[in-house]
Amino acid sequence: MKCIFGLCFFLLFTACTKDKNGPLSELDHGKLLYDTHCQTCHGVNGKGDGEMAKMLYPKPRNLASGIFKYRTTHGSIPDDIDLLQTMKMGVPGTSMPGWDVLPEKDWKALLAYIKMLVPRLQEGRPGSRIEVPPMPTTSKVSVEAGRVLYATIGCVACHGAEGKGNGMAAMSLRDAWGDIVPPRDLVRGPLKWGNTDQDLYRTLTLGIPGTPMPGYSRTLTQTEIWQLASYVRSLQKMPPDTNPSSPKRYLIKSAVIHDIPGGYDASAWQQTKPVPVFLHQLTSNSQSAEWLEVKTLANTKSIAFALRWEDTKADGDGVALQFPAKTVDEPSELPFVGMGNIGKPVLLIKWDGEQIRAWKAEGMDRLTPYEVRGVVAKGVYDKGFWKVVIQMPRSLIESSDPNYISFATWDRSVSAEKSPQSFSEWMMTSFE
Ligand code: HEC
Ligand code: HEC
Repeated sequence: MKCIFGLCFFLLFTACTKDKNGPLSELDHGKLLYDTHCQTCHGVNGKGDGEMAKMLYPKPRNLASGIFKYRTTHGSIPDDIDLLQTMKMGVPGTSMPGWDVLPEKDWKALLAYIKMLVPRLQEGRPGSRIEVPPMPTTSKVSVEAGRVLYATIGCVACHGAEGKGNGMAAMSLRDAWGDIVPPRDLVRGPLKWGNTDQDLYRTLTLGIPGTPMPGYSRTLTQTEIWQLASYVRSLQKMPPDTNPSSPKRYLIKSAVIHDIPGGYDASAWQQTKPVPVFLHQLTSNSQSAEWLEVKTLANTKSIAFALRWEDTKADGDGVALQFPAKTVDEPSELPFVGMGNIGKPVLLIKWDGEQIRAWKAEGMDRLTPYEVRGVVAKGVYDKGFWKVVIQMPRSLIESSDPNYISFATWDRSVSAEKSPQSFSEWMMTSFE
């Protein structure tokens, strides 16, 4: 056994390296996870120049630049809790997915590896965490006070009068990396850095480093910041009773019944509660849905997914289901959620508006047509929403336990056949 303690600060995180055939050191395990799940976007050395980076907007962060947007600390260096939060939850409205399905030991290893890629995280120390004072009771009066503040202190110039991210200055804003950074549409869906009242208080207090979004700790009182937070919350359109940052958001439970109905409006489907599945857009596209509503029903042989999503254009969209094509014994063995990677294939089943097609994929450019039997789909476009039911043999999804699945939407008019418009994280289904 060879110990590598003491080489430098970050290596303190690593456990002892075992013999060649023994378990990996923590840092090696972190590298393995990074290479599978992060490198395609963030690049081999974390410079934001991975294979997929050119097709993404906003660009994957150049982690080595050491500028972090999302932190709850004073100063500009995030602490471990912040980094883990970003990586577990992902960044809504961007392609950055979250990996909540990974267990704690994988997280420790990934964190150690990320710290190794970012010199600034080794050299500097995070400041203390900001204290969020207790929230006063929200009332119509405080929301109205927030609305008046919003209209008068400059938010409108960037975020627009209705919070749609379309203020006069919106298209001229640039970030620290020289790229255009549109102000987030405050109405459309989940915010990037947390969606609770406390998260909003913190965002408004600290601002977003590396972007023109200012912090208001010096110009506004605590009461005013709470009023603004309440107003922003009142604008936000979200599926009811959901917290997109909840670690339980990736569980989909399927009731087992005798006969699975085909049509979306059948009564068995109407009685099934939908789960919102949040989507990550490859390019921040204001037309693309922020979430899918997913319902699942199964019997002994089949499983079916009833999917509904908003689409203002009805231009022939499609939807795909993705599963690991090989058995996954531990979450760390999952393929990359963006269509797998070499040696870790996924199975893609896509409804393209008319028919079902399937592929085995080992990366975005490595798709082989795949024959699947017994998969049927039915979809309609109804009053601004797609409603699609896809039914398939349970054996397709049961190659791993728990059964992992992810979802993607496709827009035939915009993207090439091979590339989705948005995709979800790995989710887990279970039967009850
Ligand atoms: C599909 C592309 C994609 C993948 C895969 C991906 N990221 Fe990201 N990542 C992004 C994008 C895009 C951003 C920038 C988000 C923004 O600017 O709001 C980002 C931002 C980040 C940030 C910066 C957060 C901050 O505070 O500024 C960290 C840290 C990060 N990613 C870590 C990871 C890790 C670790 C993995 C793998 C477990 C990973 N990413 C996988 C696209 C990706
Ligand atoms: C100079 C332009 C500018 C001004 C003024 C401004 N913002 Fe922003 N704001 C931005 C930009 C740009 C972003 C998006 C940063 C990103 O996506 O990385 C943003 C993001 C946000 C977010 C979303 C954070 C998240 O987690 O996604 C909130 C909430 C917000 N602003 C509220 C406000 C409020 C309220 C005001 C007024 C008190 C305000 N902003 C003033 C430019 C501005």
